[in-house]
Amino acid sequence: MTIIIKNAAAIAGMRTAGRLGSEVLDMLTPFVKAGVTTGEIDRLAHDHMVNVQGGIPATLNYQPNGYPPYPASLCTSINDEVCHGIPNSRVLKNGDIVNIDVTVIKDGWHGDNSRMFVIGEGSIAAKRLCSVTFDAMWRGIVKVKPGARFGDIGHAIQTFAENQGFTVVREFCGHGVGAKFHEDPQVLHYGRPGTLEVMEPGMIFTIEPMINAGKREIKEDRKAGQYDGWTIVTKDRSLSAQWEHTVLVTETGYEVLTLSAGSPAAPAFVQPQVALQSSAASV
Ligand code: MF3
Ligand code: CO
Ligand code: CO
Repeated sequence: MTIIIKNAAAIAGMRTAGRLGSEVLDMLTPFVKAGVTTGEIDRLAHDHMVNVQGGIPATLNYQPNGYPPYPASLCTSINDEVCHGIPNSRVLKNGDIVNIDVTVIKDGWHGDNSRMFVIGEGSIAAKRLCSVTFDAMWRGIVKVKPGARFGDIGHAIQTFAENQGFTVVREFCGHGVGAKFHEDPQVLHYGRPGTLEVMEPGMIFTIEPMINAGKREIKEDRKAGQYDGWTIVTKDRSLSAQWEHTVLVTETGYEVLTLSAGSPAAPAFVQPQVALQSSAASV
C-alpha cells in the first residue's frame, strides 16, 4: 500500500475540487423535496458540474473492477439503501431519508462528499439516525492529525455509533482521494485505536461512515431476481444513513476540504482548526 502525499499544488487543486463538490450539494438542497425524482436531482447536478463549474461528474461511467459502468452523475440512496443507489424515476416522499453523494473532478482533482436529507417531517428515529451518523463522521474527522493512526478514526466512529444503539457497515469504507477517485488507504469506520497506518501531513482521504438502525449486514438490492449492479441495501431492510467529507492531514491536525457556504455546521464537540500561518503569526 502506498499512500500518496500531496504537494502544495495538489492540495490547492483538491481545495477547489472539494469546495465545488460541496457547492453541488448546496445548489441541490432547495430541490430535495417531496415530489422530486432522484433522476431530476441527478440532471440538475450534472448540468451544474459541467456547465457552471467546468467540471466532470466522477461517477458517470465510473467502472471499478467487477462493476458495470455507473450510469449517473451522483448516487441517491433512500431509506434502507446503504449506498450507490442509482437515480431514476422514483419520487421522494414525506418521511424518506436520502443520501446524496457527489464527486466532482476539477482540473484533474476529485472532491468527494455526501449529505443526508430528510424529506418533510421525518420520524424521530430517522432524524436521530441521520444526526448520529453526522456526529459519527465528525468523531472520526477530529482524530485526524500527524502521528495518529487510521485505527483511531475507525474506533472513534464505531464506539460512538454503537453506544447510540446503531451498527457500522463493514463492507464499504472511506478512501484516499486525489488525481484518482479511489486511492490507498482504505479508511475503515470500525477498528482499534493505535492500529493501521500512521497519518502524515499531505495525506487526503474521505471519511464516510454508513450507519444502520438495525443489523450491520448488507446485501445487493435484487428486485425480482434482477440487480442493477450497484445498489446496496440493509439485509434486514432497516434504515441506513451516511455522511462524507474529504479531509487533508495538516501539520497540526486536519482541514476539511468539502466545505462551502451551505455546509451544515460541525457539532459542538469539534474544536475550530486554527490555520498554521495565523498561529505562527501570533507567537
Ligand atoms: N462517491 C462514492 C464514494 O464515496 C463512490 C460512488 S462510485 C459510483 O466513494 F460509481 F457508485 F458512483
Ligand atoms: Co468516497
Ligand atoms: Co462519495
